[in-house]
Amino acid sequence: MSKKIFSGVQPTGNLHLGNYIGAIKNFVDLQNDPNNFCIYCVVDLHAITVKQNPEELKKNIRETTAAFIASGLDYKKSIIFNQSLVPAHSEGSWILSCIARMGWLNRMTQFKEKAGKDKEKASVGLYIYPILMAADILLYDATHVPVGGDQKQHLELSRDIANKFNLDFNSPDFLIAPEPLIQKNFARIMSLKDGNKKMSKSDPSELSRINLNDSTDEIFNKIKKAKTDTQPLPENENDLATRPEAENLLGIYSSLNDQSIKNTINEFSGKNFSEFKEKLASLVVDKISPISSEIKKLLKDEKFIDEVLNNGAQKADKIASAKIKNLKKIIGL
Ligand code: TYM
Repeated sequence: MSKKIFSGVQPTGNLHLGNYIGAIKNFVDLQNDPNNFCIYCVVDLHAITVKQNPEELKKNIRETTAAFIASGLDYKKSIIFNQSLVPAHSEGSWILSCIARMGWLNRMTQFKEKAGKDKEKASVGLYIYPILMAADILLYDATHVPVGGDQKQHLELSRDIANKFNLDFNSPDFLIAPEPLIQKNFARIMSLKDGNKKMSKSDPSELSRINLNDSTDEIFNKIKKAKTDTQPLPENENDLATRPEAENLLGIYSSLNDQSIKNTINEFSGKNFSEFKEKLASLVVDKISPISSEIKKLLKDEKFIDEVLNNGAQKADKIASAKIKNLKKIIGL
């Protein structure tokens, strides 16, 4: 079945192994299936829901685009662009914010986590950010959205918005409720310092994550210092339920080596962590270093990156502005 794929990544710096395994690696596999039509977006309007330094933001937009390309996304096969170049995203977001209900947004756990204790001081943008995400997806009639597990609730909201719009305006199937594509075993890559906490750009500890631009020494050092338990590696998958750090490291290895966790367990069962960590660090370096050097190379040619984004935006704009036109017609504008 042919799929229309849409996904996005925020240009907030420090793209890490969680972004790569949970999302970008999957973007590339989906792109390389000729049945799929793929659109990948650098979601810069999402990034400004928290304060950004304008110069840094510009740099991060290019860096995220470079990471897409360096990981294997091809602007000739997929549409690659940044959100703020296509005005339909903001316009669609406003219209859909009149469909979404306060009660739905109040349930969003990511807002609660990101806003922290003092939610009165969070921006309104941070609160309504899942509506912008719904607009991103629904404007392109995306059927499938590859994301990490942390975005599942936002996708359910997109589905609710699509269904309510279709019902309210008696326009069956006008907005397509998208299916999430979440990788079963690798949906949540966890912090290297705490197997119960998501690997995240905002974690203050650099040792908690592997960034796509880490050097070989940094990668070896971070994996060496990654938290583990004191037992040898498990003999079967059931043992992982109570060993989150082992599960995470075995998951990273399995995903990067394109094999099941079961196979990785068979390879290392009974061995100690120091031996496994050596192998894991070499694998991470093998997979990440070429991406990291390609990112550096690409960033030397800003003109090329800007051209990729501008050309992609022109293609995206054609699709999204036609959809907005019809959307407005349906609601009487
Ligand atoms: P963002 O920028 O926080 O993350 C980008 C992608 O990386 C995934 N991810 C992870 N996956 C596994 N383990 C982790 N530790 C981990 N950390 C991040 C995220 O799930 C995501 O897929 N709201 C989105 C961006 C967005 C979007 C969209 C996505 C905006 N519009 C439309 C899909 C469709 C976000 O903030 O992702």
